[in-house]
Amino acid sequence: LITRAFRSQFVIPDFQDFIKDVEEMYWAAKSNTDGKVASYIPQLARASSENWGVSICTIDGQRFSIGDVTVPFTLQSCSKPLTYAMALETLGPDVVHKYVGTEPSGRNFNELVLDYNMKPHNPMINAGAILVCSLLKTLDRPEMTLAEKFDYVMSFFSRLAGNESLGFNNAVFLSEREAADRNYALGFYMREHKCYPEKTNFRECMDFYFQCCSMEANCDIMSIMAATLANGGICPITDEKVLRPDSVRNVLSLMHSCGMYDYSGQFAFKVGLPAKSGVSGAMLIVVPNVMGICTWSPPLDPLGNSCRGLQFCDDMIKRFNFHKY
Ligand code: DON
Repeated sequence: LITRAFRSQFVIPDFQDFIKDVEEMYWAAKSNTDGKVASYIPQLARASSENWGVSICTIDGQRFSIGDVTVPFTLQSCSKPLTYAMALETLGPDVVHKYVGTEPSGRNFNELVLDYNMKPHNPMINAGAILVCSLLKTLDRPEMTLAEKFDYVMSFFSRLAGNESLGFNNAVFLSEREAADRNYALGFYMREHKCYPEKTNFRECMDFYFQCCSMEANCDIMSIMAATLANGGICPITDEKVLRPDSVRNVLSLMHSCGMYDYSGQFAFKVGLPAKSGVSGAMLIVVPNVMGICTWSPPLDPLGNSCRGLQFCDDMIKRFNFHKY
């Protein structure tokens, strides 16, 4: 790191100037009081709408964090690109995409709908992520118990995050499972249409999905995961090759087209970066070959995206030339 600093070889050489902009964008978004904290999972409704954090990790390991960056939140849908990455890595894209499509659904994230092949549209919405969980559980090391699989996934996520350890929020898990009528409906609908691999244990698969959503991290940790994606699958903190470049390309392509719920097209147009949001108010944003960003603020707009997170991205694209086109 030091040699690179002396040679000014950093991907953002004037990092201190960049940070000044990030701070301005942070404070501007802080005063935004739009949006409502998600309440369809009762435990999530307890989050404070005041929380607001932004963390940045560049592909050469320069880091900056501001605000509530160490407060834990549940991953929710931010787990979807991660379980998808894991499935690509262990099963390969051909197997994974026999079961799940690559098309935006144009509908809500939990809409009861399959594509014209009777597959879930993509891995970034609930149906697709439940399906990916069934692949991970049933096809990848099927001898593992649910407990062992949970540990296995946790440690994979942690490798993406430079070996930082993740948590698990049991109250959110129980609360979600209790209020999961729609996800069960999706699960059964897919079973009716024989979407799962043979021998899938339906109950276990649903529990596994809820568990992935209830894993906990914070902005600091999630920015490292985003940076690993920005860096072609090599974690910039540990230098470990966690994902193959082709897996990363697939994950980022679908984050770009499907990662922001039914706002994905507008986000791709305006911001032009792969991103994934979750109902806990987190957002993973990837600037390929530059850096990973995580923002977290619980109040959501009507489509389910974090209001402050969106404002931050809009502002960033006005100031910096990060839009892909
Ligand atoms: O299954 C659910 O509804 C939540 N655990 C996650 C939803 C979420 O964050 C948005 N999904 N794309």
